[in-house]
Amino acid sequence: MKKILILALAAISLVACNQTSKTESRGTEEEAAGKTLVAYFSATGTTQAAAELLAQALSADLFEIAPEQPYSEDDLNWRDSLSRSSVEMKDASFRPAIKSMPDDMGRYDTVYIGFPIWWGVAPRIINTFIENASLDGVTVIPFATSGGSEIEPALDALSAAYPDIAFGEGRLLNDVSPADIEAWVAQP
Ligand SMILES: Cc1cc2nc3c(=O)[nH]c(=O)nc-3n(C[C@H](O)[C@H](O)[C@H](O)COP(=O)(O)O)c2cc1C
Repeated sequence: MKKILILALAAISLVACNQTSKTESRGTEEEAAGKTLVAYFSATGTTQAAAELLAQALSADLFEIAPEQPYSEDDLNWRDSLSRSSVEMKDASFRPAIKSMPDDMGRYDTVYIGFPIWWGVAPRIINTFIENASLDGVTVIPFATSGGSEIEPALDALSAAYPDIAFGEGRLLNDVSPADIEAWVAQP
């Protein structure tokens, strides 16, 4: 009789344990869902500054899309048709390697992607990032900085290249203040 009682108690506590761990893991999944990531590439720091403000305004995770081989000043010389950036931008299929990707992209349902405008569009490293990130069911919102070019041609090129991605309205963030960014992210 005593044995049966002990066995029954053990079975009850096992079931209780199991339920506790299920609830905990469900809680963790719920916490993880619906997060926002701000991912950016910045060769000279301008887009990085905008990305930092944006991540702060959104309370989002921030990730630098870092090239495996950093761009030197010579690499960025657009007046030199043989510079690394010129060579990459002349070839729409060029995919510069990225140092690393964010851990577990599945945590994010909104991903902002920031970049400097190069030759009117996004640098090819942005294509590398997009093609390595799993963006099914994710809203992707591009943002950019530039020397004066608008962002629309870059947005059009991205939408044409990735028709299955749900792009939200992108923004040029030249000379933005924290208040400008707050106003942008507060839009319904
Ligand atoms: C290779 C290269 C090409 C560029 N092409 C353009 C362009 O087509 N239009 C423009 O307005 N600015 C252009 N720029 C300027 C950058 O978009 C601008 O300085 C940007 O804010 C730099 O951002 P970053 O500091 O995050 O790299 C170009 C810069 C580089 C290096």
